[in-house]
Amino acid sequence: MAIAETDLGVVNLDKLTYAGNLENLKAVERNERYRFVHGDICDRALVDGLIEEEKPEAIVHFAAESHVDRSILSPEPVIRTNLNGTFTMLEGARKHKAGRFVHVSTDEVYGSLEAPLEATEDFPLNPSSPYSASKAGSDLLVRSYFVTFKLPVVITRASNNYGPHHFPEKLIPLMITNAFDDRPLPVYGDGQQVRDWLYVDDHCRGILAVLRKGREGQIYNIGGNRSLPNLDVVRQVLALTGQPESLIQYVTDRPGHDRRYALSSEKLMRETGWAPAMDFETGLARTVAWYRANGEWVARVRSGAYREYYEKNYASRETVG
Ligand code: TYD
Repeated sequence: MAIAETDLGVVNLDKLTYAGNLENLKAVERNERYRFVHGDICDRALVDGLIEEEKPEAIVHFAAESHVDRSILSPEPVIRTNLNGTFTMLEGARKHKAGRFVHVSTDEVYGSLEAPLEATEDFPLNPSSPYSASKAGSDLLVRSYFVTFKLPVVITRASNNYGPHHFPEKLIPLMITNAFDDRPLPVYGDGQQVRDWLYVDDHCRGILAVLRKGREGQIYNIGGNRSLPNLDVVRQVLALTGQPESLIQYVTDRPGHDRRYALSSEKLMRETGWAPAMDFETGLARTVAWYRANGEWVARVRSGAYREYYEKNYASRETVG
């Protein structure tokens, strides 16, 4: 793609639901090549008008409800945003002939895999939660717009992200922020579930590589090449925060909990030259340091709606063992 970095402008459409936070975008908010639009990807008039006005060379579709536990407590917003929202974005792109459409998805669509299997892009879709089913559905919808309407789409499927600014409902930021507060670290089930960890900057570079060099109609896995059982991750967080293992609290497992995710990023590496640059120990230490230095950010995002969610998700979980 012939987009020069200096010509690149970014329009950010965001509904700013519970995890959205303009504070995270302070570094770019006054940049004249950046425009923020507050709105919902399910709002057809807004999406249509915006795509018509901006005529984007590319759309990178990140917007989603992304948390499995929330999709179990309350599936409706997940289905609406991830399926209807994707549909609205695709329709806007088709109608106004937007350029390349990069759909950002997840390795969760492959479901749980027995070791030593690693999902390649042609693996069957086998989602377990309302969240992963909504992403698998939206992946298929995106593919259909390529096959039927020749919309120039590319799909990425990434593994578990971690890094600074991460909303503290996902495993790593939740454990770090609880550890700093001397609160229990709630480990679901036996803690032996395996996830592959991808540092957020590596994910961003992977998406950029796909935006620039990915082939239309193709799917690209983006993994961190570092699989770990949850308990190992939690122990590393305790070591880095200087807290005792007695903070670990085994709680009732997540219903339908996928035991193991694993994926191969060989295709992305081969076709674009991308590779994950961050090793997990350095990335985790950097992440812990960021949360240590940004206690006020944590306090602000944890107030109000977060407290309500935390109460709902964890108060009902019994302590096990
Ligand atoms: P999560 O960060 O929610 O990501 P995903 O479900 O997309 O993999 O969870 C990562 C793993 O950590 C998953 O196996 C569930 C587990 N987990 C806990 O054990 N305790 C928790 O409090 C949370 C949020 C997750």
